[in-house]
Amino acid sequence: VSEAVALAHPNVALSKYWGKRDVRGNFPAVPSLSVTLATLTTRTRVRFGRSFAGDRILLGGATAEGTARQRVVELLDRVRGVAGDLGGAEVVSDNDFPTGSGLASSASGFAALALAAVRAAGLDWDASQVSDLARRSSASAARSIFGGFVELPAGEPDALETTRLSARAVAPANHLPISVLVAITTEAAKPIGSTEGMRATLERSPFAGAWLEEAPRLHARLRDALLARDFSSVGCLAESSALAMHASAIAAGVIYLSGATLEALTTIRALRGSGLAVYASIDAGPHVKALAQPADAARVRAALEGTPGVLRVVDAGVGEGARLVNGEASP
Ligand code: DP6
Repeated sequence: VSEAVALAHPNVALSKYWGKRDVRGNFPAVPSLSVTLATLTTRTRVRFGRSFAGDRILLGGATAEGTARQRVVELLDRVRGVAGDLGGAEVVSDNDFPTGSGLASSASGFAALALAAVRAAGLDWDASQVSDLARRSSASAARSIFGGFVELPAGEPDALETTRLSARAVAPANHLPISVLVAITTEAAKPIGSTEGMRATLERSPFAGAWLEEAPRLHARLRDALLARDFSSVGCLAESSALAMHASAIAAGVIYLSGATLEALTTIRALRGSGLAVYASIDAGPHVKALAQPADAARVRAALEGTPGVLRVVDAGVGEGARLVNGEASP
């Protein structure tokens, strides 16, 4: 039996990935740039053993079934396809935050799984290869392999399933101090998964073309602003990217925003009206992520906590990429 334990954190895209290339292999149609969070953690242990009868997958203490199980087995099969006969796998994965609540658990989950599976299989892959493996399961997971500020390029239109596409670090965590304040607005799982939401947007939205044209431009400007350590421009462009993504999705009937989302957005824009440099980001769920400078985080947090429909606020800084640890996976 060979085993490895990995930790990984979610990331929040400042310029959003929304839409896939019309080819097999999960290639994004647009580039994205994210910040890896510091405080929310997935811990995953993978063991391979020739004596194991099949794959046993425990996510958050429960045996995974259906699509959730299938997505994990597909990643394990890719690793087994390279490493040879490793036998069955036992995967034990836990989050120290609520799963499926729109906190990007698939990003941290597949990043930790990819790293643990590669190492348990004895493969000597670098971070770029692990990132490519994670991308095939969930493209945002490719970014959580790295810490700090991370970019995932778009795939080529004619990408082959064998083409490698990995995320890469753009700047380290201390490059630009940012507090990400996650305003949690519901404990329920999101009604439309991101894979399905993207597919519907590209198929049905009258604004899909506009999004695909605009996203790379916003991305390039945001990357420049980040490298120049221009917090306000980074925040402003991040908010534009999120709003453009949601505008294109909404026009296809893909609506992630709730009343509480709009209340939190109003709070952030009112704070900005009063002179604070605070910006909003929204992913494929009703939560709102406020981007602020650390010195303003307490004020932003208090305002969000006083916003109708906001249940609680998680304050996350910029963190490290996926890494191996010793020891037992949590129970
Ligand atoms: C809104 O990475 O979850 O969070 O590749 O289909 O698994 P799949 O999609 P996923 O999409 C993330 C969408 C987003 C924006 C982002 O993280 O860039």
